[in-house]
Amino acid sequence: MLVSSKISNGINGIADIPGDKSISHRSIIIPSIAKGVTEIKNILKSEDVKKTMNALKLLGVKIEEQNNDIIIYGKGLNSLKKPKSKIDLGNSGTSARLLAGLLAAQNFDSNLFGDFSLSKRPMKRIIEPLKLMGAKIESNHSKLPIKISGTKLKNISYVLEIPSAQVKSGIALAALFIKDKTTLIEKHITRNHTEIMLEYFNSEIKVDKKDDGNHITIRGQKELIPKNIEVPSDLSSAAFFIVAALINKNSHLIMKNINLNPSRDGILKALEMMGAKIILNNNKIINGEIVGDIEVYSSELNGCELDSNMARLMIDEYPILSIAASFAKSPSIFKGLSELRVKESDRLELIRHNLDKCGVFCEIIEDNLLIDPSKNTELKNSLIKTDYDHRIAMAFSVMGTKLNHKLKIQDSDYIKTSFPNFVKIFNNVGGDLVE
Ligand code: S3P
Repeated sequence: MLVSSKISNGINGIADIPGDKSISHRSIIIPSIAKGVTEIKNILKSEDVKKTMNALKLLGVKIEEQNNDIIIYGKGLNSLKKPKSKIDLGNSGTSARLLAGLLAAQNFDSNLFGDFSLSKRPMKRIIEPLKLMGAKIESNHSKLPIKISGTKLKNISYVLEIPSAQVKSGIALAALFIKDKTTLIEKHITRNHTEIMLEYFNSEIKVDKKDDGNHITIRGQKELIPKNIEVPSDLSSAAFFIVAALINKNSHLIMKNINLNPSRDGILKALEMMGAKIILNNNKIINGEIVGDIEVYSSELNGCELDSNMARLMIDEYPILSIAASFAKSPSIFKGLSELRVKESDRLELIRHNLDKCGVFCEIIEDNLLIDPSKNTELKNSLIKTDYDHRIAMAFSVMGTKLNHKLKIQDSDYIKTSFPNFVKIFNNVGGDLVE
């Protein structure tokens, strides 16, 4: 249980945001099948990332921790070994979808399982294309646990109907083991960290922008060449601090080296549309990723209308954007949020449920979310239900900074899946959270 209380002096100073979760997962998987040593700085040491790391260790990869760095001794594309036990992926959807692709192409069998939340999440979206490639996968009605009988895969040309970077990346990893050209047609652009890192590691990957979307082609069976990685800090984690600073008076906050990949930065675009005072400085490219500093000032926000294309560019940020919208001068409508229902929890319903408890007027209309602060009422209740979802817990911690009553956030323990030091870092810049 986490208790969040009202603050009066704003959110100020420098918040030290940890490494990006998506890039951290890829920073373990891709070097593990490269030929040579990779040193990784600023990797996120969260529960989800640890699950990916343990999985690769079980697959025989030597991974060492030296001070804050991780060293991975890759032995090449065909070096993974049959795991001695079933692989536990905990709460991590990224581990499950990416590793399913990697393991389908091996010459041994493996079993993947997860916690109660991951076991409810859809896996058909990754199993189906992998089966088209010839993969042998048994599942529990298209959910985890799954048994993968590794086999030689064949290339496909596949249109990604569901906007999911995890699915795209799972197929891309499988394609690394196939000599012939695999083509992925991505109608809706999603985060491209896998494409960037594969290119950085010299794989034969090409991305062509066409009228019907990005055409990603991969020719596999080519050894990846390791290069050191510096993981940028996570914009999805920074987003909680950005909104806290915006909605609280007297705030001035700085966050350094944040990943600003344009396939991920929808939250910044949305907040700018709402009139947020956010300044980006020192942009540079680090291992293919755009990185920069973010400076935020308290701002009077307006509401905004976001169409479903924005959902691909900021899918993880709707919980915290909804908090910003709750304090805006005009209503907001966020469209095309069906994917929010199949995250670590049914996030769309939990946002509605908890905003309602906080007295914020909101409605789900089909898969759109309407928030109208002009109809807000006084806080009705103070217990936030998270269904063990880290992002719901962190978003409502920010909500608590503005309310006259203490906000109690249930099952906040799961924050450690993506941001283990959240409470300490939030309190360092002016938050009042008590565990
Ligand atoms: C991720 C992709 C997104 C995102 C998740 C991380 C990734 O999931 O929600 O937090 O690292 O590829 P989907 O692929 O399900 O949209």
